[in-house]
Amino acid sequence: MNLLPRWRVGLVSVLQPLSGDTLMADLASLEARARTELDAANDETALRAWNTKYFGKSGEMVAALRDIGSVPKDQRPAYGQQANRIKETLTTAYETALQKEKERALERSLTSEAHDVTLPGRQPARGRLHVATRIMREICAVFADLGFQIYRSREVEDDLTNFELLNMPPHHPARDMWDTFYTKTPGVILRTHTSPGQIHVMRELCPEPVRVILPGMCYRYEAITTRSEIMFQQVEGLAIGDSITMADLKGTIVAFARRMFGDKREVRIRSSYFPFTEPSIEVDMDCIVCAGKGWCLCKGTGWLEVMGAGMVHPIVLKNGGYDPEKFSGFAFGMGPQRITMLRYGMNDIREFWKNDLRFLRQF
Ligand code: DAH
Repeated sequence: MNLLPRWRVGLVSVLQPLSGDTLMADLASLEARARTELDAANDETALRAWNTKYFGKSGEMVAALRDIGSVPKDQRPAYGQQANRIKETLTTAYETALQKEKERALERSLTSEAHDVTLPGRQPARGRLHVATRIMREICAVFADLGFQIYRSREVEDDLTNFELLNMPPHHPARDMWDTFYTKTPGVILRTHTSPGQIHVMRELCPEPVRVILPGMCYRYEAITTRSEIMFQQVEGLAIGDSITMADLKGTIVAFARRMFGDKREVRIRSSYFPFTEPSIEVDMDCIVCAGKGWCLCKGTGWLEVMGAGMVHPIVLKNGGYDPEKFSGFAFGMGPQRITMLRYGMNDIREFWKNDLRFLRQF
């Protein structure tokens, strides 16, 4: 007696050609046998074992399908159709049986096992705000107290607003300060700073006075290092009125620094250059870590750089719709990531968007 299933014998049909009828009969008996065994499988383990027997890697049904090549050519279509039909029927029957068995198992456990309805529920995992969101909200709260409104501006900008209207015509060398992500649509870019928001605010509010901050994400096509990321947040500030001076800018910055970092903070101003402000300044704060003694993050200087700022350039005022003869304004821009790093002594900016819970849970 040959113990191998017939379709296995069929594999060597080159030597011993089998008739199409025999093969078809084999298929039919395979189906009948599989059906009977499936009906007899009365728990999940038995069902899964059945599935492996017929549909596993070396399953009988799989073999029957694979062996189609050894069926005499003229009978192949009929054999193929029949084999596929059986495969479909068996698969459906198996899935239905498995589903039914799962329902029965649930029913059994519900009726036979005791349920203690007094057990305490499972604690849901508590989420928390991302440290970047928290600091951003803190900054917004301080400026809100100082009378600034929060203005949301787009992250996808055009070259015109991101550069030109901020007094940087094409080929202006200052554009080199902002390595840009371009999109496939000409002129459409990801904003490299929050400053283009100034234009949107001015055009919306002109000729009213302005006192807003613009928080949000910015993007720069730069190498990612411990100190620079391709995406980061900024907070832009803008105040416009009929007699705004550098003294207002200074007062605002000092008030912010003291609210945010403690009332002993000292602020130092250096002259700088930005195309959209004239004059431009850079603002340093005495080092919160070494309290001005100079031996840490501040690289021994006792001062930490916190923002760029200045008096809004007349051309920018004009681009926003304000007459520079009648209006003046100040603007500033700072990086909350930098501020967070200073505050918590972080040394790797990449932690912000890495989503490592060990890092995030510390805040
Ligand atoms: N946009 C500048 C940057 O990304 C920061 C900045 C500097 C903003 C001076 C200002 C400003 O509004 O007046 O580097």
